[in-house]
Amino acid sequence: TASTNTVAKGIGKLYFGSATDNPELPDTAYETILNNTGFFGQITPGNSMKWDATEPEEGVFTFSGGDQIANLARANGQLIRGHNCVWYNQLPSWVANGVFTAAQLTTIIQNHCGTLVSHYAGEISSSYAWDVINEPFNDDGTWRSDVFFNTLGESFVPIALQAARAADPKAKLYINDYNIEFAGPKATAMMSLIQTLKSTNVPVDGVGLQCHFIVGEVPTDLETILQEFVALDVEVAITELDIRMTLPETDALLAQQKTDYQNVIAACKAVAGCVGITIWDYTDKYSWIPGTFPGQGAACPWDANFIRKPAYDGIIAGLTA
Ligand code: G3I
Repeated sequence: TASTNTVAKGIGKLYFGSATDNPELPDTAYETILNNTGFFGQITPGNSMKWDATEPEEGVFTFSGGDQIANLARANGQLIRGHNCVWYNQLPSWVANGVFTAAQLTTIIQNHCGTLVSHYAGEISSSYAWDVINEPFNDDGTWRSDVFFNTLGESFVPIALQAARAADPKAKLYINDYNIEFAGPKATAMMSLIQTLKSTNVPVDGVGLQCHFIVGEVPTDLETILQEFVALDVEVAITELDIRMTLPETDALLAQQKTDYQNVIAACKAVAGCVGITIWDYTDKYSWIPGTFPGQGAACPWDANFIRKPAYDGIIAGLTA
């Protein structure tokens, strides 16, 4: 059987990868597949490099969870996408509920991004890319109201990107978001942000399109959107792909899901600047979907017993067709 990462590299992509998370790693059946570089040439820590995990108190950094993932990637010879530096969610309360002057929050962002990114710098296998900015926009294209925007306006974006560039000049610096995979105000807002950053020489290398989709509702203009981002002189990556359904799963839903996976992968294949694809964990056993969307699930290409679903064949078809 063809293997996802092997086939992806064979068509010129850098990787096919998966999110993972520390609590899953004692599961040896899980880890055996994750470690297989035929399947996965890249991993993303689902939680353990986030702000609440890495700087729970101001100036107190804890890298044990992130290091476990980075060490695994190094042992396996897998790339890492660092995730993430600045996000409104999973913030420690000292940040989320803090009241700061602009100067204070600037220093806090610089210290957090700089320390986090430099901790993982210099290891080629672990420093491919960082999601420096995660989910900055509302769905209507306005800026999300959070401590960063409310204190600093949009300047929190260049502050974080410049700190990350200084900390690891070789890492690709990404802005990552969802609902930018189709034409609309949010995609437009992301495109204008990239143009502004480029025109003011702020370092930004890539846009991550998360791609948390619903069976039967995959956007049909994904390839066009990918091309439009690439035309702004950034690379793109599919960073958190999963395609959920209302349970129970049926043969018809699994067949539609296969087609949907194929179409997403084919869009990335068709765009040279789409460097890689990451699924937001590979097995339904550890998917975030049922916990967040009760009654939905079965979003991953491997089922909860680690059996490959039709979606897996859809991925291979998307890479090869
Ligand atoms: O750490 C606590 C633990 O102490 C507690 O006992 C347990 C009880 O529920 O919760 C643990 O925190 C959970 C955390 O994951 C770590 O496992 C949170 O409840 C849970 O909400 C959190 O979910 C994560 C979610 O981000 C939070 O927004 C998911 O695992 C993670 O996959 C998900 O990933 C995000 C990306 O970062 C950004 N894009 C969307 C994507 C899906 O939401």
